Amino acid sequence: MQIVKTIAEVRRLVSTVRQEGKRIGFVPTMGALHNGHVSLMKTARKQCDYVVVSIFVNPTQFGPSEDFEKYPRNLDSDAITCRKTGVDLVFAPSVKDMYPRENWTWVEVENLTKSLCGAHRPGHFRGVTTVCTKLFNIVDSDMAFFGQKDAQQAIVIRRMMADLHLPLEIVICPTVRESDGLAVSSRNQYLKPTERKDASLLYHALTICEDLARKGENRVKVLIAAMQQVLGRSVAIEPEYIQIVDLDTLEPLETIDRPALVALAARLGTTRLIDNIILDLNVSSGDV
Ligand code: PAJ
Repeated sequence: MQIVKTIAEVRRLVSTVRQEGKRIGFVPTMGALHNGHVSLMKTARKQCDYVVVSIFVNPTQFGPSEDFEKYPRNLDSDAITCRKTGVDLVFAPSVKDMYPRENWTWVEVENLTKSLCGAHRPGHFRGVTTVCTKLFNIVDSDMAFFGQKDAQQAIVIRRMMADLHLPLEIVICPTVRESDGLAVSSRNQYLKPTERKDASLLYHALTICEDLARKGENRVKVLIAAMQQVLGRSVAIEPEYIQIVDLDTLEPLETIDRPALVALAARLGTTRLIDNIILDLNVSSGDV
């Protein structure tokens, strides 16, 4: 496995591999790698001949009061994780490499970025789509792998690829969870022990929603109230949003009459967590 820091080097290595006719898979990350990231890398490993992982904590997707400075960074242990998982190339650029001058060119997906996390993190998705466009142009892979954990991000990226006619295939991989259901996240390490215990209620609320919907309850108001009730069992949980939206447009639904995304965000102390399930009553599982 190689670890490279410059754009020129990653371009050179990837173009050599491309000339050999290999299929290139790309997993963009911000590091602090955990089992969620590892599952994306393993899927890439299965579907591609050469796997590139980027590790870059992207400043433009953090708001001024968010945790950019505090975001965990540990390239050495991340490199070990990548090596163990069979990654071929780690690309770990500096902020200066990715943003060598004041950035005047932004990629922004409209509409899909206004609701859910977009409503609470202004500019976040503009930062994500811009850095992903840069990374896609640099790495030049055939496929890129994203997690269902960040459902809105995955949906926004897919729309960006379609709108801009970008040829890269986007694969969305299921959410990896801890044994109590909490979605694995690098931010889980910030939780105090009591907050960590209560955090499992987030997924519990989503499963209650799915159970009710499968039993025939299709009124969104009733489903949201049931989820609120579950989260209300903990004084530590401050919900930011609990919503059921159309899976393609992210527009709010009143009844579950088509594939839906059930998404929530909540604060536990200073930590913000998100989770979601897909509710497609014609298929069997909530995590697609
Ligand atoms: P990061 O939070 O590091 O996540 C990298 C990828 O891992 C994302 O596609 C995310 O959805 C996926 N992921 C995180 N937790 C997961 C879990 N529990 N199960 C499955 N997949 C999981 O998302 C970003 O970085 C950034 O916004 C990025 C796309 C790299 C752009 O900067």
